[in-house]
Amino acid sequence: MLAVAMPALKAQKVNLTPWPQSITVFAGNFKLPDNVTIDASAVETIAAEEAARLATELQAATGRSVSVAASSAPTIKLIAGDESMDEEGYNLRVKSKSIEITARTEVGFFYAFQSLKKMLPANVAAGVAADVTSYSLPCLQIQDAPRFRYRGFMLDVSRHFFTTDEIKKILRLMALYKMNVFHWHLTDDQGWRVEIKKYPKLTTVAATRNNSWNTDMDKGQYWTNQTYGPYFYTQEEVKDIVAYAAKLHITVVPEVEMPGHFAAALTAYPEFSCNPSGSHSVWVNGGISTDVLNVANTAAVQFAKDILSELAPLFPSKTFHIGGDETPTNAWQNNKECQDLYKAEGMTAYYQLQSRFTKEIAAHLKTLGKEICVWNEAITANGADVSMIAETGATVYCWNPCQAGAKLAAQNGLKAIITNWGQDGCYYINRRANSTDYGAGNGGDNLQKTYEYVPLPASIDANLQKYFYGVQASFWTEHVSEPEHLEHLAIPRLMAVAEAGWTPQDSKDFGQFVNRMKQDREFFSLAGYRYHPQFLDYEGAEAPVPTTPLPEVSEVGGKRYYYRISSLATTGERSGRCIELLQEGSPLIAANSSRGAAANVLWTNSAKENAENQLWAIEANKNYPGKYALVSLSKPEGSLNPTASAAGTSGRWSYSDSQKHYNFIIGDNASGEDGGAYYYTIRSDKYDALWMNCAMFYGVNLYANPTDGQGGYWKFEPVDVTRISPLANRAEKTGKTYDLQGRRIDEATAKGIYIVNGQKVLY
Ligand code: ACM
Repeated sequence: MLAVAMPALKAQKVNLTPWPQSITVFAGNFKLPDNVTIDASAVETIAAEEAARLATELQAATGRSVSVAASSAPTIKLIAGDESMDEEGYNLRVKSKSIEITARTEVGFFYAFQSLKKMLPANVAAGVAADVTSYSLPCLQIQDAPRFRYRGFMLDVSRHFFTTDEIKKILRLMALYKMNVFHWHLTDDQGWRVEIKKYPKLTTVAATRNNSWNTDMDKGQYWTNQTYGPYFYTQEEVKDIVAYAAKLHITVVPEVEMPGHFAAALTAYPEFSCNPSGSHSVWVNGGISTDVLNVANTAAVQFAKDILSELAPLFPSKTFHIGGDETPTNAWQNNKECQDLYKAEGMTAYYQLQSRFTKEIAAHLKTLGKEICVWNEAITANGADVSMIAETGATVYCWNPCQAGAKLAAQNGLKAIITNWGQDGCYYINRRANSTDYGAGNGGDNLQKTYEYVPLPASIDANLQKYFYGVQASFWTEHVSEPEHLEHLAIPRLMAVAEAGWTPQDSKDFGQFVNRMKQDREFFSLAGYRYHPQFLDYEGAEAPVPTTPLPEVSEVGGKRYYYRISSLATTGERSGRCIELLQEGSPLIAANSSRGAAANVLWTNSAKENAENQLWAIEANKNYPGKYALVSLSKPEGSLNPTASAAGTSGRWSYSDSQKHYNFIIGDNASGEDGGAYYYTIRSDKYDALWMNCAMFYGVNLYANPTDGQGGYWKFEPVDVTRISPLANRAEKTGKTYDLQGRRIDEATAKGIYIVNGQKVLY
């Protein structure tokens, strides 16, 4: 259908990030009433808990009375979606008096509720009461589902430790922006941060270091010259975070680095290092320690396995990350056991010891019910045994080289998570965003580059694309000690990555994103998040919320556009039927005479034929904007008559062939897109609350509720009418009869007959 310059429906601002897959805004507004009912009765088993939580949150923030109850006229109705819906997807319909939400899973409803809260005034998402007189939303329809299954945020708690409350605050932010994986980088050279009961020194020794690099956001960076730690999470705290995240539909993927980035652990248990009698220390500087696990020592490998055995049951996640990045091989090259193993295995590079270790750990994780995750070095490092890693089925976290690593992973049938570190589009959102920031990085890792980085380039072969499993913002904390500094650097680049994970590539627009982030400042402030003012440097752009274009009116450019107008009704007899103007000779008159079918009355019929009686043009009323006539191709001198032909307003609609009635209002209660064709409600201006509907079996009648599934939504499919006249001409010349596809048809077997330009056309 041609998009038209007839903005009868005004675009309105919608502040929703990540931007949804599809959104249409209609005229009118929904206002949250004083008493709100959420009807979850149809989806009790999947959404009762979410509905109760939404009720509590809405009530607390808005001061309205919000309850969950079955109701014939609920404010918010939850509807069970069918199997065709994405497992995380939802449809959200905001009408002037009610809201309908359809999903097929708990998480689908959760994301719908996140969208709903996000679009309401900012105090709702922030979870704080505010003096807002009207909680209103534009009438709209959203169909939504994520682009990528994995939308993650990684936090390094080794270099600096963040409390469980601080982590929960980040989890809430992630969930609001529909991120679903918290990658918890629990251990590194600079500190071990999780309780392992079998190895208590990991927290009495390895969780403490001699000094720390802090950032004062006003004064700059400095060494504290004080002991840092012991800082770690008890297993009870781990369980608490995992449970908290689960309620937000966030999976916690733990990372325990091995065999490199392991110096803290080896300070506590030097017997598992390559140099047990040497000196070991919890690393104070950033960078990479050469003190790595002795992978040729069976007891050392068992140490690693024991740690995983103890931790794995704490995490419901199917995957477990063992790091594996930046592992220097110097210690192995100088260690007798490693040299012997290297020779015995006929290895050609010391890095192959790491591949072998990774394979063994993957097998162990498998016995614990987990799949392994690794950083991309596992396949991209010099000497890495790619086929050995491919056998493990590892998920590869790609940072450097990100795209080459991801492509190699995909070529080997491994899932890739995109978390690019480079300045071409940095997903390492701890790096400073401009030269005046305090933090690591070069100052060029700005918001625009993060936003515009393309995680899955179009050039990637179609058969490899499915391995690009998701995106992740990663946050390393060598230079970040304070939660507010973390937030300052992460927000809003975190949202840029969230949008990369959710929104279709083609729907992304940096200017609009900036504009939405500017609006989100109110939310950040109310919810107590510090954000980076950097994005104020950009000129934002209005998000052009798409409105459903009205069908092309006939007069535009001297052309006439005709449409078949068919019902979206899904119930049996009414399903897909189109409006037909009955004329003498129409088969409906004969078939339904007992129901009063008569010429010049509107009925519905099967939509498969191109009969003139089923085709309608639209004429705009120049004196009354927004009002139209629907004119039949078979009787172009008339229009649909918005006066009921039968007694009472429940009667059928008739057709006036003497007069045009410019009194239809199209699409003010609903419009949208269905399979590429737009649909609308059609309402008489005269009978304000009554819509054209095919609720009465075949007849087109007036009906008070266009949305009850009886056929009050009408789909406008453009029809090329130039196909019709040549058929009639051919019939005239040959004396034969044809159907509308131009096939010869025998009058005796035809179902019916239409008159086209005075000639017979059978169907
Ligand atoms: C990493 O940044 N070393 C994964």
